Amino acid sequence: MIGKLNHIGVATPSIEESVKLYRDVLGATSITDKWAMPEQGVWVCFVNLPNSQIELIEPYGDASPIHAFLTKNPKGGQHHVCFEVEDIIAARDDMRAKGATVLGTGEPRIGAHGTPVIFVHPKDMGGVLIELMEAPKGAH
Ligand code: CO
Repeated sequence: MIGKLNHIGVATPSIEESVKLYRDVLGATSITDKWAMPEQGVWVCFVNLPNSQIELIEPYGDASPIHAFLTKNPKGGQHHVCFEVEDIIAARDDMRAKGATVLGTGEPRIGAHGTPVIFVHPKDMGGVLIELMEAPKGAH
């Protein structure tokens, strides 16, 4: 049911510092500016790779959902993996039918690519927080 790997989410205490790593050390040549997603509690920036993206996320505001992650991982680290799906509602219902825990209310929210996303709890996913993202229409 999952399609392409869309991105790997990497939490960081500083997008600026992480950009230096991806640009100056690893040599990435296409990196977006960062922007705020207040309703998600994060700053976001994408490192574009030939076959995928790294999504850098930094806390935005005191209620950011990634504060706890950064308390456990002060230097940041791999936070989630995002796969594309055709239909986010069908994917959510399928996850629930298979016993997985969809985070929050389960109502999809608009993600960093402007399409609906849900997150599936890592306890049911081998320890990996999974983001499912509806593929942009017309992208295939
Ligand atoms: Co993501």
